Amino acid sequence: MKKILILGAGIYQVPLIKVAKKLGIYTIVASIPGNYPGFELADKVYYENTTDYRKILSIARREKIDGIVTAGTDVAVITIGKVCDALGLKGLSAEAAELATDKLLMKQCYEKYGVRSAKFRRVTFDDPNYANIISDLRLPVMFKSVDSSGSRGIIKVNSEDEFESARNYVLENTRSDYFVVEEYIEGEEFGAQAFVQDGKLEFILPHGDYVFKGDTGVPVGHFAPYNLDPSILEDAREQLIAAVRAMQLDNCAINADFILSEGETYVLEIGGRSGATCLAELVSIYYGFDYYEKIVRMAIGEKVEFDIDVNSTKQDGVPNASMLLMSDKDGVIKSQEDNNAPNPDIYEVQFDYEPGDEVHKFKVGPHRIGHVITKGKSLDDAVDLLHEALDNISIVVE
Ligand SMILES: Nc1ncnc2c1ncn2[C@@H]1O[C@H](COP(=O)(O)OP(=O)(O)O)[C@@H](O)[C@H]1O
Ligand SMILES: [Mg+2]
Repeated sequence: MKKILILGAGIYQVPLIKVAKKLGIYTIVASIPGNYPGFELADKVYYENTTDYRKILSIARREKIDGIVTAGTDVAVITIGKVCDALGLKGLSAEAAELATDKLLMKQCYEKYGVRSAKFRRVTFDDPNYANIISDLRLPVMFKSVDSSGSRGIIKVNSEDEFESARNYVLENTRSDYFVVEEYIEGEEFGAQAFVQDGKLEFILPHGDYVFKGDTGVPVGHFAPYNLDPSILEDAREQLIAAVRAMQLDNCAINADFILSEGETYVLEIGGRSGATCLAELVSIYYGFDYYEKIVRMAIGEKVEFDIDVNSTKQDGVPNASMLLMSDKDGVIKSQEDNNAPNPDIYEVQFDYEPGDEVHKFKVGPHRIGHVITKGKSLDDAVDLLHEALDNISIVVE
């Protein structure tokens, strides 16, 4: 029996755990303790911090695992890279993982290899004169923690008066002693999911993003296909390919965040794992396969077949759309109801919590309380159904 080690036990790892079990793979989950739904699904659980590389490596050795994987979060990607290197498992390298999980290293890599990305500066927290270093950046700028995700530790700064409070906000959300300041790109946010196996890109799927505008943008939903002008689509693909090559990402799922500004695609960041907020589901619906299964199969060393022409620019997959469920206040869930009539085009309505659980007013990705995913004959149908389905869901928070 093959064995897989899944890092994380949260909602983004649950589909990996389920599919691994369905494939008859012995499923080991490692995560810090907490109220995580993956624990009760796994065959075996280790309550360890997934960023603790030594602990995870010793578990991997003891269990003689065939693969290690995660989805929807960057937190454990570096551990995956290191364990894959140490044990010769199929997955991204430690070097690629490091670039993919440090926004400064990533930006430096893009600069070196000519990937289009916002102009930036590195700033150390103990530098009293940091305003000088960033004085040649055009305002507004983004102050960014280099090692966080889900829009945490990232804030838009419109004027110099805001520098100090923004700096302190970043400081509260990072383990690093430096951060990145980069120019704000005015435009439309979008992204792409992709997969690279044995050096070959298997597919590139651009998608539209629904963005919640708080202190910074927070992607709260997605849709595909994203009907961009063919020349813009080609430019986005070129930037993605250049970034994947520059970062030497291989044998992993890819989650790319872009901004389209005046017809040009800027790369915000690229992760070496599948996207959160229903993005793996977006891939599954669009292409008609279980994307989590592909991810798991490759992680245990199989050569995975995709049967997709990566060079084709035809956008002929199944249209679909998704949206997070959010609370507009801090509080406790009193009740939650899905009053939608059964409909095969409502792909999934998920509540992340139970009545009685505490939830937050939505500000960043991890504050999500559920999601809705729909599909349709056309994108308009899928989006209309998404709004209808959302209207039929009632969650009371007090
Ligand atoms: N240079 C930028 N210009 C405009 N918006 C940005 C920029 N950088 C980040 N953002 C906004 O902040 C969000 C989070 O930034 P990102 O670098 O993707 O970090 P995270 O790892 O938190 O997703 C983006 O989705 C986008 O809305
Ligand atoms: Mg992002």
